[in-house]
Amino acid sequence: MTPEIKPVVAGNWKMNGSSNSQSMVRELVAGYDQKLQGQVDMAIFPPSILLAQTASWLSGSKISCGAQDCHANQSGAHTGDIAADMIVDAGGTMVLVGHSERRVDHNESNDEVAAKARAAWQSGLTAFICIGELEAERRSGKTLDVLAEQLAGSVPDGATAANAVIAYEPVWAIGTGLVPEASDVEEAHAFIRKQLVERFGNAGATMRILYGGSVKPGNAGELMAINNVDGALVGGASLKAEDFLGICEAYRNMT
Ligand code: 13P
Repeated sequence: MTPEIKPVVAGNWKMNGSSNSQSMVRELVAGYDQKLQGQVDMAIFPPSILLAQTASWLSGSKISCGAQDCHANQSGAHTGDIAADMIVDAGGTMVLVGHSERRVDHNESNDEVAAKARAAWQSGLTAFICIGELEAERRSGKTLDVLAEQLAGSVPDGATAANAVIAYEPVWAIGTGLVPEASDVEEAHAFIRKQLVERFGNAGATMRILYGGSVKPGNAGELMAINNVDGALVGGASLKAEDFLGICEAYRNMT
């Protein structure tokens, strides 16, 4: 944790969910709004086709929602893509950019990720900018170099604690059940914080840095206790209300 920074637990549903997800969202709202909202922010990122429905299910709740990606342009001939303004129109307030699955599956470069973050800001969205090393990069001792390069290339000038959240997700920890040693998470987050402070000053000191990769109710407390871990970006465990709320509980117990 970072004193003075309210953590956020964010759920990335990836390509999961349907109109039947309403009951799960209802459970989240009931569990979150009653006892967690004071200590932890919560956000969910459903597939964009479910975003407007999800926003309506969340109406009146303190849980925020957003999309998993946006295009760098606001309109035009880009079949299959969605614009940041459309996310706003659907009721979203945030967007993930640069998730490793997009960097790998869609060959997204740092420049493209930065352009998407700028588009998000133009529409008033908070950009959750994702970075993280591949297994081979970690093995060859290049983790911090990769993080420096991704931060420099993917986070545009003008980032603030309000418009940007950094999500550190070691690619090899995503969906594998593998989690880095606490000391490795601490080293990566301290490094990210230092880079952010050097570049953005006070804004960098207060920007949230999330950890993602196999976060579960059982390991969330230990991860949250690490310096500069200001929340979690959760994949698989965000698909069950009980697990996702369990992760939030672990964070609440720290505050
Ligand atoms: P898992 O929690 O399933 O490992 O996914 C992490 C992730 O990629 C969140 O964006």
